[in-house]
Amino acid sequence: MSDLIDRFGRRHRSLRISVTDVCNIRCQYCMPEHADRFLPRDEHLRYDEITRFVGIVAPLGLNRLRLTGGEPLLRPGLDQLVAKLSTTEGVADVALTTNGMLLADQLPALVDAGLRRVNISLDTLSEQTFRAMSRREGLDRVLDGIAAAADTPSLTVRLNSLVLRDVNLDDVIALVEFAAGRDITLRFIEFMPLDANRRWSESRMVRGDEIREILADRFGGLEPAEVTDPSQPATDYLLPGGGRVGFIDTVTRPFCDACDRLRLTSDGKLRNCLFGQQEWDVREMLRARVDPERVLVQVRDCLAAKHAAHGIAAADFRPPQRAMYQIGG
Ligand code: 5AD
Ligand code: SF4
Repeated sequence: MSDLIDRFGRRHRSLRISVTDVCNIRCQYCMPEHADRFLPRDEHLRYDEITRFVGIVAPLGLNRLRLTGGEPLLRPGLDQLVAKLSTTEGVADVALTTNGMLLADQLPALVDAGLRRVNISLDTLSEQTFRAMSRREGLDRVLDGIAAAADTPSLTVRLNSLVLRDVNLDDVIALVEFAAGRDITLRFIEFMPLDANRRWSESRMVRGDEIREILADRFGGLEPAEVTDPSQPATDYLLPGGGRVGFIDTVTRPFCDACDRLRLTSDGKLRNCLFGQQEWDVREMLRARVDPERVLVQVRDCLAAKHAAHGIAAADFRPPQRAMYQIGG
């Protein structure tokens, strides 16, 4: 069996698995304010179906898994999925991306189940700004989640911050100080045109460059960190006083050349890019327990259709049909 290499020579190792499109908050950059139509439950892949899929692709090297959503911790018994996946043959790593609201409670079970890495979204340290950004309350619960994660020695914790010019640009220094003080890497992610309301604009997006300038001014320079994993989308910098801060400049510095990802949506569609216009269904095959070779044909078709780059800057760019919460962050 050969590895999953696309026509541009990119070997695919990462699979992002969305387990639900539901979320308990409504971040402006992702969800509409009044999201009321979510997938019916029986359209979600069941845990045994996800595990079967991973069992088919992990031996081909697609074996670094990340669970996303929506908010993955809303899916009951997520620790059971983590346990199944982390003991599936060939799986190298199981990670989670969460908004942190439900993390403190669930963390011990997740860690017992084999979770080793968690990314938590944190866009502000002010409850008022949290409300403006997420249209919900509960920053304290997020901070509890971060504290619980930071207290777990076996866990690698990262924070993800997304800055909207009109909402939280004033928070960047406090965010960096917060993370550095806890020895956690924080990453700024550029706002991508994936919001359900289609209110993305270049002017609301804050470029990584601009944030780097603010931080360099405040902290007295930023030192590029050594690159340890070239497939990582983030470029990390070290602060002179200690601390590490990363940038995922998806829009202004695309890292498509090093992309090693495929995505599985919560309703069992494969995607080769966040910005792809096409999806490949595997749910019905998994449900019907067809020969794994047939599932692999879908995986290979999806991979073969992958473009060289996302083309956000191109004149004919159009955002995908589904928003971030429906694809998986
Ligand atoms: N652009 C960039 N990142 C996004 N996320 C959600 N929506 C967007 C968007 N439009 C990311 C945020 C969040 C994670 C779950 O998904 O970084 O932390
Ligand atoms: Fe929910 Fe994450 Fe989307 Fe925010 S970014 S609304 S936490 S799915």
